[in-house]
Parts: sequence; C-alpha cells; structure tokens
Amino acid sequence: MITAVKGTQDLVFPEVGRWQAVERAAHETFARYGFTEIRTPVLEPTELFVRGIGDETDIVTKEMYTFQDRKGRSLTMRPENTAGVARAVVEHRLYESPLHGRLYYIGPQFRYERPQKGRYRQFHQIGAEVLGDPAPGVDAETIAMVMEFLGAVGVMGPAVQVNSVGCPNCRPIYVSALKEELAGSAQHLCGDCRRRLETNPLRVLDCKVPTCQPYLDKAPSFTDFLCEACAEHHDALREALEILRVPFVPRPRLVRGLDYYTRTVFEVTSSALGAQDALLGGGRYDGLLEQIGGPACAGFGWALGMERLLMALPQPAASRLPWTYLAWAGGGTYRAALALARDLRAAGAVVVMEHTARSFKSGLKRADRMNVRYVVLLGEEEAGSGRFTLKDMATGEQWALGREELSRHLAEEVGA
Ligand code: HAM
Repeated sequence: MITAVKGTQDLVFPEVGRWQAVERAAHETFARYGFTEIRTPVLEPTELFVRGIGDETDIVTKEMYTFQDRKGRSLTMRPENTAGVARAVVEHRLYESPLHGRLYYIGPQFRYERPQKGRYRQFHQIGAEVLGDPAPGVDAETIAMVMEFLGAVGVMGPAVQVNSVGCPNCRPIYVSALKEELAGSAQHLCGDCRRRLETNPLRVLDCKVPTCQPYLDKAPSFTDFLCEACAEHHDALREALEILRVPFVPRPRLVRGLDYYTRTVFEVTSSALGAQDALLGGGRYDGLLEQIGGPACAGFGWALGMERLLMALPQPAASRLPWTYLAWAGGGTYRAALALARDLRAAGAVVVMEHTARSFKSGLKRADRMNVRYVVLLGEEEAGSGRFTLKDMATGEQWALGREELSRHLAEEVGA
C-alpha cells in the first residue's frame, strides 16, 4: 500500500469543514482591516530563503526541502511565506501601491522537522504582512487583528508575549553582553547552545533543554540595551496595544528562529497546547526587502499554524449533520425525487439522494450511518399527494409536510 509521506496528513470531512470555517473567518476578519489575499508559489529559488531567513538558522541549515530541477537550478519548497511575499512585493513593485501594503495568505509550508503532535513536515499557515510602514502602530494593529481573529474562531486561552530584538545598531551590543554573560557558564550548556554561542548567539535563548534554563534565565534583557529609536518604538507599541485593549506580557528574552527580525517580535501561545504551545509568531523585518535585493521598505507580520490552531479550539459537540437524506421507493418516484431535491436545494437545504433504487429500510440505515439529521420519505403515495414524510433522526419524530413547509423547515436547519 502506498501511504502518505511521513509528517503529512490527508484531511477529510468533517475535519475539513472545521478548516473551511477557520479560513472563512480569516477572510472576513482581515478584509475588515483592509488586507487583501496574496498567493505566492510553493516553489521559490533556494537563495531567497538563504538570504531572507538567514544561512545559520535551523530552517535553512537542516529543515528545507531543497532539490535541483532538470536544468540544475536549486529550488526549495517554501518553509514559510514571508520571504515569498517580500520577493513578490519587490518583483512587482507592489511597495509603490498603497493598495498592496497589507497582504495575507493561507497555504501549505514545508519543513523537514521531526514529526510529533502539532509539528508536521507539511503544515499550513495563515499569515499577514504589512509592507512599507515603519510605525509602531502598525505592529499593534496587526497584533490586534490576529487576536480578534483568534477570538472569532474561539481559540482557548490565547496569550500575547512581546519583546524587541533591536536593530543593527543596538543588537550587537546586546549580543556581546549575552556572550559575556554566558561565557562563564558555557561548560554547563548543551552542545547546541555552545555551538550557537559562536554562530548565532541569540538563538541560545530559544533552547528548551531544562539543564540550560537556569543559565539562560540570567541572560540580560534585550530592552535594557535598545537604542533610543528602538526603545521609543517599543514604548509606542505597548501604548498602542493598551489602547487597542490587547492584553500582553513582556518577555524580555523572547527571540525568534528567523534572522530577519528587527525591533518588535511577538508570539501567541494557547493554554490548550502542550509542549508545542506557540500558536503563532511574528514581528518586524525592516531590512528584509533590501536583503533580498529590493529597496529599503519596512515590514511587519505574523503567521500561525493551522494544525495548532485547530488543536486549540474546543472540540465540536457530537451532533448530527444538518443534512437531509431524500429516500425514494416505488415506480415513478425517482423523477419526483430529483425534482424535490432540486427545489429543496434551491431553498437552501443540504440534500443527498441515491440514484439507484433501494428500499426505505436500507435508505434509513444509510442515512443513519451518514449521521444526517433528517430523512424525507418519498413513496408513490407522497408523490401523488404532494405531502412528504419528514423524519427527524435525532428524536425519531415524523411529520407529513407540503413542499413549501418542508423547504422552509430544512433550509432553516442549515441556517440558509
Ligand atoms: P514561525 O514561527 O517559523 O514563523 O512559524 C509560525 C507558526 O507556524 C508557528 O508558531 C507554528 O504555529 C507554525 N509552525 C511552524 N513550524 C511548524 C511545523 N513544523 N508544524 C506545524 N506548525 C508549524 C514564520 O513562519 C514567520 N514567517 C512568521 C512571520 C510572518 N514573521 C513575519 N511575518
């Protein structure tokens, strides 16, 4: 048997219905903030991610799906979408258009990580990016937007953590202070931390190894090292978050796994998630467009993992689908059933029917296995009288209804 690739999943109904509901809420919420959708390719030149995400990051060094195409070009299946959006914005000069300053996306991303609960090799992100505006209010408003979205879909216990990682002027001072602080305890740190202390010291702060924690807790706070402009930005962000009524917790040692961030970084966790509790993350990336060969152009954004989001929603109550199974039996009733199904659907009901004859008994059995709420029985008598038998599979009740009443009742059931 050929099975799905490790770390990937097939999605079927009813789970796929939950995904669609989340996607609908995303389209609706983001549209109210003036965001429009962007769809970029899954395949990008490898160089985009090396330059954009950073050649020392875990994503670029060990997690990318990279291959050579038939002409020998190095291509990568996108591990995230921010670099692709930045590439599209530069390539099509979208930064010149005020209409294209606020973009969002929904789509698959690929990382060769060790699969576990909440971590996949093909996962799906919903994300948003604001290009061309360096103001701290943008950071706050875009965080407020995602919190509104999480509220709309019902995510349990979301909590925002914010920090600033400074800019190319003040970050090196922090990094030296960090290296100095940890140099004395390097022998107690794990191998990864010791290596990162040399290659990418900020990433040390992201280590999850318990024995490293006491030493990392002593690391200096970023906010004590910010230059005046970065400190002002951070204060203004916090003030705007308060005005927008977004509760947040300062996390002075929060860093992120991608190198493009400047100033604001943030994460949102959910109380419903375990070890992989980061539901989403993002921040400001004012240097990214230049890094990939574009003009100087500010950027801010975030992305959330769909699979994790779904895990952070309350489980839906087990109930029957608000659908109708139309059972027909007897000479000439198939034609009447086709016409009735047409009318019921036109009124807004969800109707399924068989196209091969079967008895009412076997139809009812099938309807029960499909877990539908209603069955309409259409026999010769009903076809003649124009009154149909409606059976509620949840309660066992039955009514005889005319076409109009039946349409109204079933359409109301699906909220049409
Ligand atoms: P990231 O933190 O790498 O940021 O990923 C964002 C979210 O994607 C994570 O918080 C998590 O929910 C989900 N995620 C990441 N890896 C996996 C995985 N292997 N399996 C399941 N879910 C996963 C970014 O990707 C940035 N592009 C965010 C951003 C946008 N920054 C600025 N704009």
